[in-house]
Parts: sequence; structure tokens; C-alpha cells
Amino acid sequence: MTQHEPFSFRSSEELLEKTEKLEVEIPFQDSISPLFDSIIIGRSKIPNRMVVQPMEGFDANPDGSPGELSFRRYERYAKGGSGLIWHEATSIIPQGRSNPRQSMITRKNLDSFKRLVENIRRQAYKAFDSKHEVFLVLQLTHSGRFSMPKGKPQPQAACLNPFLDRNSEKVHILSDEELDYLQDRYLQASKLAYQAGFDAVDIKACHGYLVNDLLAAFMRKDSRYGGMFDDRARFLTEVVQNVKKNTQGLVIGVRFNAYDGIKFPYGFGVKKDSSLCIDLSEPKALVKQLVKAGASFFNITAGIPRYNPHLGRPFDRNLPGDPLPEEHPLEGVSRLIKITEKLQDEFPDYPFVYTGFSWLRQFFPNVAAAIITSKKEALIGLGRSSFAYPDAVKELMDTGTLHPRKVCITCSRCTELMRAGCVTGCVVHDKEIYAREYHKISYKYKEKKNEKKHG
Ligand SMILES: Cc1cc2nc3c(=O)[nH]c(=O)nc-3n(C[C@H](O)[C@H](O)[C@H](O)COP(=O)(O)O)c2cc1C
Repeated sequence: MTQHEPFSFRSSEELLEKTEKLEVEIPFQDSISPLFDSIIIGRSKIPNRMVVQPMEGFDANPDGSPGELSFRRYERYAKGGSGLIWHEATSIIPQGRSNPRQSMITRKNLDSFKRLVENIRRQAYKAFDSKHEVFLVLQLTHSGRFSMPKGKPQPQAACLNPFLDRNSEKVHILSDEELDYLQDRYLQASKLAYQAGFDAVDIKACHGYLVNDLLAAFMRKDSRYGGMFDDRARFLTEVVQNVKKNTQGLVIGVRFNAYDGIKFPYGFGVKKDSSLCIDLSEPKALVKQLVKAGASFFNITAGIPRYNPHLGRPFDRNLPGDPLPEEHPLEGVSRLIKITEKLQDEFPDYPFVYTGFSWLRQFFPNVAAAIITSKKEALIGLGRSSFAYPDAVKELMDTGTLHPRKVCITCSRCTELMRAGCVTGCVVHDKEIYAREYHKISYKYKEKKNEKKHG
């Protein structure tokens, strides 16, 4: 086991020395030119390998349409140079929203989404040239046990999970009929996404939200949607099949947790003994099934942010009150890369988006380039870094390097904003908006602490 340490490398030599000392495998190469190789998804040619990962900003209007800050964020991404922008988690129904300001697509607000898509394409076109055709994916979700449509928890789950449910009495277990209805909502939302101008939809199956919860629903009894693998994978597979059948021209991707990091029988991608060891046999079977159902590309992630956040987003600073993970962040970065590589090795012709690069700061391009060199269909996703340094890709195109003072420092303050239900962005590098927002919540924390102390 390795020990947690914050990022401290001034040169790539220091970084590589550390990986050797920890015996952690991180690919690395000097030339970053592979980042700018094009790649085909569906029938579209993506101008480069860089992906803005889905990042919730909680700045939608109450009806779910993109708000002023949403337009601002996506405009910054468009000008930033990534070939693929993966729009944040967007709810398929009001009851499945994780926050009253979570994005949600409906027939009534379709025009706002159309405007957002048009603006992204226009801005990317203006900033680059006609060959830079950005590929747009809309991530569709139901927040499941993390639903908070009115700001208070309204957990809805496939089955109870002792690792995730604080108050099991309050969890509503969705019936098969309710799940049938939700499958149809995914289809309707996909049709709307197509009408809005998105190139693709993602049926989100990660981070503990509903479809991920179903994949791990070993303990759901007497149901079409739980127990054996085929039944646990049924909901997702059928949604992909239905969308494929009913929306010609729309490409389908799936972002899924290949490893939940929760013991069997409560986590997906985990050995069926009492260990937390990774077992990719079901994730591999899932990809095979989804390809058959009509999915064209994948985005791999891990962990449940509210339970084991370090698995999906290695960080320097944890959330206030959370313990530090018992591993070096490089181990987390390496795990995410390895899991994705193993899946991609089984399906070498399918594009896979890799994740977890923000912790590597200015050295991520060298690691990313080495991955693309060995895996021809790899794309590189940036999450927190996209909040912090939205024009990183453009800067790499123009200068070949990143500025160490502009990179994400994985301080988790964006997550703090998200948890507090605020609009979310980079507190450190996008101060004008988000430092002000952060100030409000830290003031509230202080008030609460004082209340406790004195009363
Ligand atoms: C504030 C915040 C919002 C996020 N929103 C989403 C989301 O909407 N959908 C999703 O699949 N992942 C979401 N993620 C996870 C990121 O997409 C990404 O997987 C994670 O941050 C690790 O990548 P990184 O190291 O580049 O940050 C979010 C993460 C953070 C910190």
C-alpha cells in the first residue's frame, strides 16, 4: 500500500522517479503530437483526441434549460480546442434530478438546448476553422439514490445498498413497471437530444447513479432488472437498443463504472469474494452486449464519489471532514488507465475515453500521448481541468506546453460547491464567479461551527 501525497513535481523526471519508487505504471512519452490525431466516431471525424468530460455546473434554469453560466462554460470549452465536448449529466425526468438546478431536457425547453448547441458550434468554428468540427455528446441520467429534485434527498434505487444508504427506510425501491417507464423516458430524451443537434447521447451508467446501481443490483429479487448479469444489464442494454432503433443518425455512447470499489454483492466490477479486487469479466461482457445493442464508443470511470471519491478522481485535498485515501494519487491514476486499457484491448476497434488526468497537471499531455501511441482508438478526457483551464488544448496546439500556474490543483473545492448545491466551477482559476460563491459557503460553515461551539 502506498501513502497519499500531494503533487510536488517540478519536472517530468521527478514524476517518473516517483512512479518507479512506488512501482506504479504510468505510460509517458516526450512527443505530444498524437493528441492532435483525428479519430472517427460513428460517421464523424473528430479533429483531435481531447475530450471535455461531463462536469455538472448546476447552473441550469429551474426548468432544466441551460442558464447564463451554462452558456458561458460551454462557450469557453468550444473556444478551448477539444474535439469532443461531453455535455454534463442531464436528467430525463424532474424526479431524477440531483439538484433543482441540474440540467434537464424537455419538449418545452428544447429551443434553449438548440441555442446552446448552435453557440458551441459557432464559437468552435470562429476560434479554429471549418475542419474543426466539434463532436457533441449529451449525457442522459437519472440520479437514482442521489436524487434531490427539490434540494432534499429523495433516494430511488434498484435495491438497498448498506454501503451507500444512510437511511434505508427512506429509499424508494423502483418497481419493474417504474423502470419500464424510465426506459421510455431515456428514449424520449434521446430523441430530443437529436432534435437539439447533439451528435450523440450517453446513457450514463456510472458513479452510483441509477443505471450504475442497476448493474450492481445483485440483491434485487424477483425482477427483470436484477440478480444475474443479463438481468442487471437489461435496463441499459434495452435502452441502447431502443435508442438505436428509433433515432437514426444519433450515435450512442456509454460512460460506465468498470469498477465500483464496493464489495460483492453491492458493487460492479468487483471479485465475488470478500475482497475489493477488480474483476473485469462483467464489464467486458457488458461492452460486448452494448456493442451488439448499438453503442459505438465508451467512456470508462470508477468509484462512487460520495463513498470512495479517490477512485474516480485522484486528488490532493479531500473534502472537509473526509479522511485522506490510503493510497498515492498516482496509484489511482494508474488504476484508471489500466482498467480502460484492459477493456480497450478486448475491443480494439472501438473508441474509449480515458479519465483521471487532472491530477497530473502540466504533465498529463505526455501520459495521454503515450496512451494514444499504444491504443489507436484512445481519447483523453479532462474533468476538473476543464473547469480550471478550459483553453488548455488550444494552448497545447499553440505552444506545445501548459502553464503550471494555470493547471487544476485538484483541491476539491469544485466538489464542495457541488455538494453545497451551488453553481459549480473552478474556485482557484475562475475566481470572479466561483470564489465568490465559495466564500458564501465557507462563511456558512464558519457560522455553523460557531453555533455548535456556543450552543
Ligand atoms: C464538480 C464535478 C462535477 C462532475 N459532473 C459529472 C457529470 O455530470 N457526469 C459524469 O459522468 N461525471 C462527472 N464528474 C466526474 C468527471 O467527469 C471526471 O470523471 C472526474 O472529475 C475525473 O477526471 P479529472 O481527473 O480530469 O477531474 C464530475 C466531477 C466533478 C468534480
